Amino acid sequence: MSDITLILLAAGNSSRFGLPVKKQWLRIDHEPLWQFVADQFDSTALFSNIIITSHKEEVPFMEGFCDYTIVEGGDTRQQSLQNALANVTTPYVLVSDIARACIDEKLIQTLIDAKELADVVVPTLNVNDTIVYENNTIDRDKVKRIQTPQLSKTDTLKKALRTDKEFTDESSAIVADGGTRHFIDGSEDAHKITYIQDLTKLPCIKAPSNATLVGNGFDVHAFEEGREMVLGGVKIDVDYGFKAHSDGDVAIHALIDALLGAAGLGDIGMLFPDNDNSYKNIDSKELLRTTVLRLHQFGLVVLNADITIAAEAPRLSNYKSQMRSTLAQLLHIPASRMNVKATTTEKLGFIGRKEGVGVMATATLNYYDWTQK
Ligand code: CTP
Ligand code: MG
Repeated sequence: MSDITLILLAAGNSSRFGLPVKKQWLRIDHEPLWQFVADQFDSTALFSNIIITSHKEEVPFMEGFCDYTIVEGGDTRQQSLQNALANVTTPYVLVSDIARACIDEKLIQTLIDAKELADVVVPTLNVNDTIVYENNTIDRDKVKRIQTPQLSKTDTLKKALRTDKEFTDESSAIVADGGTRHFIDGSEDAHKITYIQDLTKLPCIKAPSNATLVGNGFDVHAFEEGREMVLGGVKIDVDYGFKAHSDGDVAIHALIDALLGAAGLGDIGMLFPDNDNSYKNIDSKELLRTTVLRLHQFGLVVLNADITIAAEAPRLSNYKSQMRSTLAQLLHIPASRMNVKATTTEKLGFIGRKEGVGVMATATLNYYDWTQK
């Protein structure tokens, strides 16, 4: 059994990346990058456990994709690392950024072979350029570029990070706390993704699958007197609405479930829990906007959607085209790829008795093709 835990840091915002998709969610075939990287490490069988930090809004989605331990990250890389370290019980811990997507197994093995030589083992690169520090040229042979991943003694690292000071790597924290550091030769190939341009420097990652993903959704809401009715994002001119925690737009709710279904991201309750009071009476268009933003961040784009509204009342024929254009705009697709149908149920059942409305939705998605950027 290994005495090393692996921590993969993946809770960042990708704010410098420059694409709508977050770098940790770029798709490699079908897999998000964070999972692809974790699987590469897992296949080495060198670790007793793999812990991945996740942005707080992404935790349930990452958990749904894998069996790794997912830990909520913090506002900074260091805070995320501390949250993950709280779950580490092995004597050693290897910390790597998910953004460093291509794993050099030889380098990992060299780090592990040196684990008893110091409190932290660090890959470094020499500097070939002339180095000027505060206007003085200094001896470049005494300068090193520090890389990750780094292998640390767990207790030493935990102790070194018990400070408000932010460090840019683990070894700086350990050395500042009086610990020892051992250098090994790093690798020029170990590129980290920061900007879109970095994607061309990563030989191990391949294009996303061009598959089409399909999902369905279904929702029902009962009528309630004295509420405004909004359906398919459009105000309907009747003197009753839907009984619901939100505005009750049953068509949008079914559509959100179809989108999340295609994405493998669970259902509307996972994204917008109905015990959360911030969603009380909320405009469901906002929920759809957030869902589409999340899909984009997770490396997906909408191809088309189709909804069937089953309603004996109200009459919807005059509203269908406005629903179509409203929903298409929210999905970032042309109206031709958003279809809205309405039907009655021949006076049968609760819909036939005019007690409420049911909506079925289908949506298809593609992976965002980052290779074209
Ligand atoms: N990271 C983290 N928690 C944070 C910030 C960063 O786990 N609060 C992770 C990132 O997911 C990334 C690694 O630390 O794998 C290095 O961070 P960086 O490359 O800066 O990624 P981001 O912070 O996501 O990008 P940016 O700074 O451009 O927003
Ligand atoms: Mg950052």
